[in-house]
Amino acid sequence: MLIQVENLTHIYNQGTPFERVALREVNLEIEAGERIGILGPTGSGKSTLVQHLAGLLKPTAGRVLLEGTPIHSKGATARKLRLQVGLAFQYPEDQIFEQTVFREVAFGPRNLGLDEAEVAARVNWALEMVGLDPVAVAQRMPFTLSGGEMRRVALASILAMRPRVLILDEPTAGQDPQGRRALLDKVGAWQRETNMTLIVVSHALEDLARLVERVIALREGRVVADGPTRQVLSDVKLLRAIGLDVPQPVALLQALRQAGKEVRVDRFLPAEAASEIARVWGLRGSVT
Ligand SMILES: Nc1ncnc2c1ncn2[C@@H]1O[C@H](COP(=O)(O)OP(=O)(O)O)[C@@H](O)[C@H]1O
Ligand SMILES: [Mg+2]
Repeated sequence: MLIQVENLTHIYNQGTPFERVALREVNLEIEAGERIGILGPTGSGKSTLVQHLAGLLKPTAGRVLLEGTPIHSKGATARKLRLQVGLAFQYPEDQIFEQTVFREVAFGPRNLGLDEAEVAARVNWALEMVGLDPVAVAQRMPFTLSGGEMRRVALASILAMRPRVLILDEPTAGQDPQGRRALLDKVGAWQRETNMTLIVVSHALEDLARLVERVIALREGRVVADGPTRQVLSDVKLLRAIGLDVPQPVALLQALRQAGKEVRVDRFLPAEAASEIARVWGLRGSVT
């Protein structure tokens, strides 16, 4: 087992008036090569959970194991394992601190002890992966970039490390729909090529639908669902209960079902919903 989360509880500012329970006895197991989405409303504990998976927070109780070793522990083994987990933060400003985009993206590979030619090759590759032109942005100061560009630089700096586990916390916030699709498609293709483990936090259900095979839903710091993407994203009752919008194709099919049509509702991509409607209406030919 690659990652085990055992009875993980996280309390911020414990024992002060600002005390906040962010995670409550979370248990999870994640296998190498899985593509997982983490879903939940704002404040449900998603960012706290993924910071634990990267070994950046110390549990109040419970633990996170990476290949059987507690990830936040001291010592060379845990440090080595932590380097294999790359987390692109929700707020990229929290992650960017170098003077130029090049230096920012080069920081991780340099720390891995790679020679400068390999570092430069990785920087170019990573910037292209996230849809930035290396020639145009390499010498810019990160803080002169737009929010969306900064997020891409933060992601590039993680990709350049070639992590075995890639965690993206709200990767498409602040991106236009086209840029978003392109970015997720590239990340998806890279995942298939390398079979790395991919964990994506998002409340954009369409993003998750395209990218992941398993969805874990959080509510108030607890895991309230953990199952195949198709099952979780078409569970109208569950999604409403945790305060999330139902994917529009599912809502449409649900409305047809309530009007007495015998349609399946677990079709959350627009093209799938169209095919399902065509099937029930006996339309010929494929709809895509
Ligand atoms: N650094 C922090 N200090 C205190 N409380 C925090 C901190 N970060 C998050 N929280 C609180 O912990 C809870 C979970 O937050 P978070 O993990 O960021 O949720 P999400 O990513 O799902 O929006 C929220 O109530 C949030 O206000
Ligand atoms: Mg968050």
